[in-house]
Amino acid sequence: MATSVALTGATGFIGRRLIAGLVRDGVQVRALTRSAPATQRDSQVEWIRGSLDDATALDQLVDGVEAVIHCAGAVRGANEATFRRINVDGSRRLFEATQRQGCARLLLMSSLAARHPELSWYATSKYEAEQRLASSAQPVVTVFRPTAVYGPGDRELRPLFETLMRGWLLMTGPSETRLSFLHVDDLVAAAKTWLHHSPSGARVDGSFELHDGYPGGYTWTRIAEIGAGVRGAPVRRLPIPAGMLRALAQANLMLARGLNRSPMLTPEKLRELRHHDWTCDNSALTRAIGWTPQITLEQALGDRRQWAVD
Ligand SMILES: NC(=O)c1ccc[n+]([C@@H]2O[C@H](COP(=O)([O-])OP(=O)(O)OC[C@H]3O[C@@H](n4cnc5c(N)ncnc54)[C@H](OP(=O)(O)O)[C@@H]3O)[C@@H](O)[C@H]2O)c1
Repeated sequence: MATSVALTGATGFIGRRLIAGLVRDGVQVRALTRSAPATQRDSQVEWIRGSLDDATALDQLVDGVEAVIHCAGAVRGANEATFRRINVDGSRRLFEATQRQGCARLLLMSSLAARHPELSWYATSKYEAEQRLASSAQPVVTVFRPTAVYGPGDRELRPLFETLMRGWLLMTGPSETRLSFLHVDDLVAAAKTWLHHSPSGARVDGSFELHDGYPGGYTWTRIAEIGAGVRGAPVRRLPIPAGMLRALAQANLMLARGLNRSPMLTPEKLRELRHHDWTCDNSALTRAIGWTPQITLEQALGDRRQWAVD
């Protein structure tokens, strides 16, 4: 296993869980942060102050490490330029620093959304970052395309699951939609398994989808059934009309622009949410590194520590 890793996005939902997992495994982590860390509490973590805009900080971040995990990214934004600046241009700067410093291995945390770049600004930017990486001279490059990730610290899917555990399923898409999910701890396990593949061992090049392994994707009906099973009480499905969602998304975007905020729900994001097929396939990654997911949605919903309802 690589013993020194440079990590971006360590202050985010996935990155926080990832850095904790790496530290537990005894990995020395150098992590990028845009805000000053409260204290340098852990001797295994060296914080580098800077952003993806800052080539000097990125050189410092990746200098001498065995592997780089690029987990920073914009997941919400009020315009295309924001996604492009962070996800495309910022990623390119990191790839360039990685090459300048001669770091052999890089893992890009892309997204299943990159499979459909036409759907949203976010999806386009994740796809374009992958393309930049593919055309760079990076020696060993792996791209993870996780589907929607949930778990402790998540702000996006939590309301859906909390409402479900109260007996209501707010459906944001047609009932035949096929969704997929991945618990953050399974994603962390996949990244750590990737690290086990040393440069002299099997190369893990290419792009890999990740989900919790539920075959054929979850329909809204199935999610309601799982919720009812875990609650031991019925779940009522509440389809939100497409027109109402579109109006809400448009209003949210206008408000966010007015307040200079980064919105999650926008008309762009809605196209992603309502896409009919987010089924996923782990088989390529399982073949490449032997990782398989361990946590089903049913198990996670049953764990009250994660989805406690007052
Ligand atoms: N969550 C999901 O369901 C999901 C699914 C598939 C793929 N992904 C990908 O996984 C990655 C992490 O997602 P997340 O859910 O953990 O998002 P998040 O909670 O919003 O965290 C984003 C991270 O990126 C950092 N960041 C953003 N802009 C940056 C910049 N210009 N320079 C340096 N750092 C910057 C943030 O730093 P600050 O703390 O300073 O803001 C934060 O650490 C993203 O690349 C995302 O596309 C997420």
